[in-house]
Amino acid sequence: MSKHIGILTAGGDSPGLNAAIRGIGKSALATGKMHIVGFRDGFRGLMENRTMRLDRETLSSILTRGGTILGTSRDKPHKMPVGSEVMDMTEVICDNYNRHSLDALICIGGGGTQKNAYRLAQKGLNILTLPKTIDNDVAMTDITFGFHTAMEIATEAIDRLHSTAHSHHRIIVVEVMGHNAGWLALGAGVAGGADVILIPEIPYDLHSTANAIRKRQQRGTNFSIVAIAEGALSIGDHVLLTGLKDKKDKAREKGDGKAQKKAEEGLLEFSRQRVNHTLKLTQELEVMTGLESRLTILGHCQRGGTPSAADRVLATRLGSACIDSVERGEYGVMIAVDGEGTKSVPLEEVVGKKKLVPLDHPWIRAARNVGTCMGD
Ligand code: F6P
Repeated sequence: MSKHIGILTAGGDSPGLNAAIRGIGKSALATGKMHIVGFRDGFRGLMENRTMRLDRETLSSILTRGGTILGTSRDKPHKMPVGSEVMDMTEVICDNYNRHSLDALICIGGGGTQKNAYRLAQKGLNILTLPKTIDNDVAMTDITFGFHTAMEIATEAIDRLHSTAHSHHRIIVVEVMGHNAGWLALGAGVAGGADVILIPEIPYDLHSTANAIRKRQQRGTNFSIVAIAEGALSIGDHVLLTGLKDKKDKAREKGDGKAQKKAEEGLLEFSRQRVNHTLKLTQELEVMTGLESRLTILGHCQRGGTPSAADRVLATRLGSACIDSVERGEYGVMIAVDGEGTKSVPLEEVVGKKKLVPLDHPWIRAARNVGTCMGD
């Protein structure tokens, strides 16, 4: 009996998605008893039944390409904008799964996608997922694909910023993506020899940060590189945010809708206020150190372009392992990275968790040992 397999890519794109699609597709076709179909633009394409043929021809020459040939979106099955409304389209998605007589649906994505895929698994669909995101924050996997490439891009940027910071005797603050996790800023910061690394897991003190730069000045080094994660928080902001989140949780526990709405508005206002937080830090450091300061925001450069060799290997072996799981009829799982191998982790153990940088992580220890200020 042949099996019909669907694939979609959801959430923010990341290098290695095409390598994963190819890994899944070619491994599936090699069994001689599987048919595959791609759905365009994440869960939206599955809802709208927009498909892409995936055969030897379409799977060829995509290994090195950035982005995803399938397209992606951040649409959620249960909260999808349709016209002027936001609707629960789960039933339509289930109908389309059945219309294609799918035996399995493979959803490639980060934390949000794992959650959305799990919801579909709870509706009875045979779901498998792969962990991708440049943020490396998916729980229960050693690493996600996309992270390695993004770290290389951010490191190269820091390398380039070093020489210009040195020439102009400036502070250059470089904002790195990563959502609320510090993996990318930490990895690129260590690899690029940043003098200060600020990550969300370690709320930073402005004075300690400025002091670290002043100490370098006293030693005759009149430039510094500050690698800051987009989600990094000053100690003050951290206290404020924790307070707001606590209020929201307590209001939800008590079932106090009014208080919950107020706390949610407070959280929204907090995010609005933080839009330029790295620019604010850059200006504060200039005032406190007397060194001219500039901000570079790396942004989506970190998500684009050719995947690194490491990400191509990772995405290919995850794709191939995923088809092994399909052959065994193993569903409701994420194919996670486990050292040089892989393991199938039940989706309920993945969702609702985030893999942040542990405070005793060897990268943090190594950064401190080579004299990097971590902002505390
Ligand atoms: O999750 C990947 C990521 O690039 C994060 O690092 C970043 O916070 C977010 O996506 C940006 O999202 P968007 O591309 O929707 O602006």
